[in-house]
Amino acid sequence: MDIITVQHLTKVYGSGPASTRALDDVSFSIAEGEYVAIVGSSGSGKSTLLHLMGGVDRPTSGTVLLNGADVYARSDEELAVFRRREVGLVYQFYNLIPVLNVVENMTLPVALDGREVNRDRLSSLLSSLGLEGRESHLPNQLSGGQQQRVAIGRALMNAPAVVLADEPTGNLDSKNSREIMALLRASNKQMGQTLVVITHDEDIALSADRIIAIEDGRIARDERIRR
Ligand SMILES: Nc1ncnc2c1ncn2[C@@H]1O[C@H](COP(=O)(O)OP(=O)(O)O)[C@@H](O)[C@H]1O
Ligand SMILES: [Mg+2]
Repeated sequence: MDIITVQHLTKVYGSGPASTRALDDVSFSIAEGEYVAIVGSSGSGKSTLLHLMGGVDRPTSGTVLLNGADVYARSDEELAVFRRREVGLVYQFYNLIPVLNVVENMTLPVALDGREVNRDRLSSLLSSLGLEGRESHLPNQLSGGQQQRVAIGRALMNAPAVVLADEPTGNLDSKNSREIMALLRASNKQMGQTLVVITHDEDIALSADRIIAIEDGRIARDERIRR
């Protein structure tokens, strides 16, 4: 079954002569549980595409369906709830809140929703992410690899169907990169989560089920990896 369907997606930033067509009539589908790498040169439209799959921005035209539902038929308030509950977003520079500790950062989307924190899920995530004993640390008291683990914990806290990661290892050394990718892969395999990762790392791209290459806002290649 397809979990994400992107149809004729176009994004133009700005207007008039200064406008940028970041995505130009892009269409594709991603199956439930698939692990997809998105590659392409800087400025090709990768982040724009990932944001539009995650309800972060609105397209100029075209649609995104997640689990068959039109993401952008939602109001801005509904879209904010959608981002907290249905997708997990991971960024290159972690995007943690500096004044919140590890547990507070991880549970922020749940708190914003006014819901109870699932304590079992929190402790199992803290343990699988290797963050036990770091619960009260602030982001600036953690290494880059640890900060990215917290960001992954925040993304996984609501057990989203889809995890969208924008160069999640772009700021990490090779050991931490491998560990972060292993954590994302484990969640993808064990929980059947759909995983979409933007990467410049060829080894990471080749570890995916499928590679979509973006050039100038269009799909230049879309290939399944055979093993
Ligand atoms: N908020 C924005 N306002 C104006 N232009 C933007 C904005 N975000 C991205 N762009 C432009 O859109 C194009 C695609 O950007 P982006 O999706 O970030 O590419 P990538 O992630 O592949 O580097 C680039 O030309 C970029 O400068
Ligand atoms: Mg980008």
